[in-house]
Amino acid sequence: MIQIRNLTKYYGKGESRFKALDDVSVCIKDGEFIVILGASGSGKSTFLNVISGLETMDSGSVSYDEKRLEKMNEKELTRFRRDNTAYIFQQYYLLPHLTVEKNIKMGADLDHNRDFFPAMEAVGLADKRKKFPSELSGGEQQRVAIARALAKNPKVLFLDEPTGALDENTGRLVLDYIIKLQAKQSFTMIMVTHNANIAETADRIIRMNSGKIVGITENTEKKTAYEIGW
Ligand SMILES: Nc1ncnc2c1ncn2[C@@H]1O[C@H](COP(=O)(O)OP(=O)(O)OP(=O)(O)O)[C@@H](O)[C@H]1O
Ligand SMILES: [Mg+2]
Repeated sequence: MIQIRNLTKYYGKGESRFKALDDVSVCIKDGEFIVILGASGSGKSTFLNVISGLETMDSGSVSYDEKRLEKMNEKELTRFRRDNTAYIFQQYYLLPHLTVEKNIKMGADLDHNRDFFPAMEAVGLADKRKKFPSELSGGEQQRVAIARALAKNPKVLFLDEPTGALDENTGRLVLDYIIKLQAKQSFTMIMVTHNANIAETADRIIRMNSGKIVGITENTEKKTAYEIGW
């Protein structure tokens, strides 16, 4: 369980000090799929970055069971992130001079040299493993990034606009992959998106505005990536 209590985060100093997260509290259950919705600038990425330990908070607390992020130093945070979390961004951040399998393996190496082959197969890229990123479509590149994240075998997967750079067909395909992998492997998944349709695929939807949570709704009937509008 991830327990987030009274989280507050500022950017900048003095006159330009800006409250990006304003007293945010919510509890996320193990194995849950959460979608975070909100307008541009509402604090979605900041929220994701702070609860994943990428950025610091100014006050409040974030606990993963008994582990409290606000009590960790930089080294402990790095280790925590390595052992528990993985991130997928809108940009794929692949290394251009490495093949598909080496890009994925690099992600796996972060975590005690785990076997990366299942992750590569799970996203359907085993037959393209010797190719370089420039030889792949956008959707295939994002699937490499997904495999790289999954090879870490994370307890929590954070995604910030994972389909933002993809066209509708490819976006649906990638989303379908992600949703099926999460259902099968039952890690916790927290996804930020602008696309309100995608929220219909989640267990719960958190809505943000001006750094605050303004609504949390539960989906009684989850839709698939092919049943939603786009
Ligand atoms: N490093 C930073 N320094 C100063 N201000 C920042 C920084 N990062 C974000 N902000 C500000 O904090 C607010 C929230 O930003 P955030 O990136 O969390 O929004 P978002 O909801 O993810 O938006 P988008 O949908 O456009 O990605 C914005 O007003 C932004 O300008
Ligand atoms: Mg953002």
